[in-house]
Amino acid sequence: MATRSAGKPGEPEVLHLPQENEKLRQRVEALEALQDVARTLSSELDLQRLLAQVMQVAAQVLGAEAGSILLVDQSTNELEFVLTQGGGGSQLLQRRMAIGTGLAGWVASQAKPAIVNDVTMDPRFAREIGDSVSFQVKSLIAVPLASKGQVIGVLEVLNKASGEGFTEEDLQVLSALGAQAAVAIENARLYQALKEERDKILNTEEEVRKKLARDLHDGPTQALSAIAMKASLVRKQLEQEPAKAAVELRMLEALARRAAGDLRHMLFGLRPLMLETQGLIPTLQTYLARFQEMGEIAIQLDVSRFSCSLPHNSEVAVFGIIQEALNNILKHSRARNVQIIMEDTPKACRITIKDDGCGFDVASVERGYDQRSSFGLFNMRERAALINGKLALSSTPGQGTTITLTVPLK
Ligand SMILES: Nc1ncnc2c1ncn2[C@@H]1O[C@H](COP(=O)(O)OP(=O)(O)O)[C@@H](O)[C@H]1O
Ligand SMILES: [Mg+2]
Repeated sequence: MATRSAGKPGEPEVLHLPQENEKLRQRVEALEALQDVARTLSSELDLQRLLAQVMQVAAQVLGAEAGSILLVDQSTNELEFVLTQGGGGSQLLQRRMAIGTGLAGWVASQAKPAIVNDVTMDPRFAREIGDSVSFQVKSLIAVPLASKGQVIGVLEVLNKASGEGFTEEDLQVLSALGAQAAVAIENARLYQALKEERDKILNTEEEVRKKLARDLHDGPTQALSAIAMKASLVRKQLEQEPAKAAVELRMLEALARRAAGDLRHMLFGLRPLMLETQGLIPTLQTYLARFQEMGEIAIQLDVSRFSCSLPHNSEVAVFGIIQEALNNILKHSRARNVQIIMEDTPKACRITIKDDGCGFDVASVERGYDQRSSFGLFNMRERAALINGKLALSSTPGQGTTITLTVPLK
């Protein structure tokens, strides 16, 4: 807007047109640049590249010598320098400070922008941070990056190259850029989270395939080889010792039945169609009945305090986790009794799987996962995480193992 010099009363006011025009031209340029940015920002899904673009545009449009972007770490309530440009600010990268301290911290906690043209006079300026960069901070603007009413970070630019201070108009431009940047940052983060989730699912699937290959090799494949050997033995016996052959045949039959049973159990575990038609509890009961036929473990299932109907994907995950836990019990624990308790708590469904076996040193097993080829426990945790659940393992050598899975209810 053109400013008018106050003329004497009655005289026409004088417009400083050349200067006003120049200012307007600059402002239009800045706004055009912003519009371009809005278009490109929303399509950039790589967070680091996105931040670099935001910073570059901010510095360019405002004619600033340097700048930085800080993001809020929700879990610690801190701000972290995630990007710096110019001024030797790279030493600040990954530096953290509590929300509320320093100028950026003030901006984040108040959700308000700040413009400071003499940092020596501003008590909010964090001296240790200013001192750790190689150039002298004279002026700065910082705006909150807010998305859906929540501050997710701070965008700041330092020292106007022209040497003047920053203006209210600069602040408006940076605020507009900050608003667009915040939405784009949220998008990029969501995309990133989605990608991580997808990778987790792919890893879990890969593990399931590996386990299936192992189980098929250890179980049915070996059983079939044994059956073939026995069959060839019986063929020879049939002529010379028919009585013995009859006994062997009976054993052969038992062997074949067991292999078929194992295969059915594996198929059931692999894709329990019952889960889709009848839900978790009947499926578990069927699975447990078959499981008990295979070994000497007595399993007690208590669902008397369980009423919640979990969504289908949670049921699939819970079933998978119980399966993995039982396989471990069968394979490693030498347990005689297993208790599975499913119960409602006010906000969650809790599943406890407790065995009275030999127990193990959880920390040392989990520490050694880099060198292991199997990821049973790891997978259980991943499956739990996929449904926002939590899995706690407690075990002491000689004292059995307890697994507690908590699945929050929507
Ligand atoms: N219920 C259990 N009782 C005793 N040891 C267990 C139990 N569950 C797991 N373990 C121990 O933890 C290790 C890791 O288990 P897991 O990740 O499933 O891999 P894997 O079963 O293929 O060895 C097992 O090798 C075993 O030593
Ligand atoms: Mg295992």
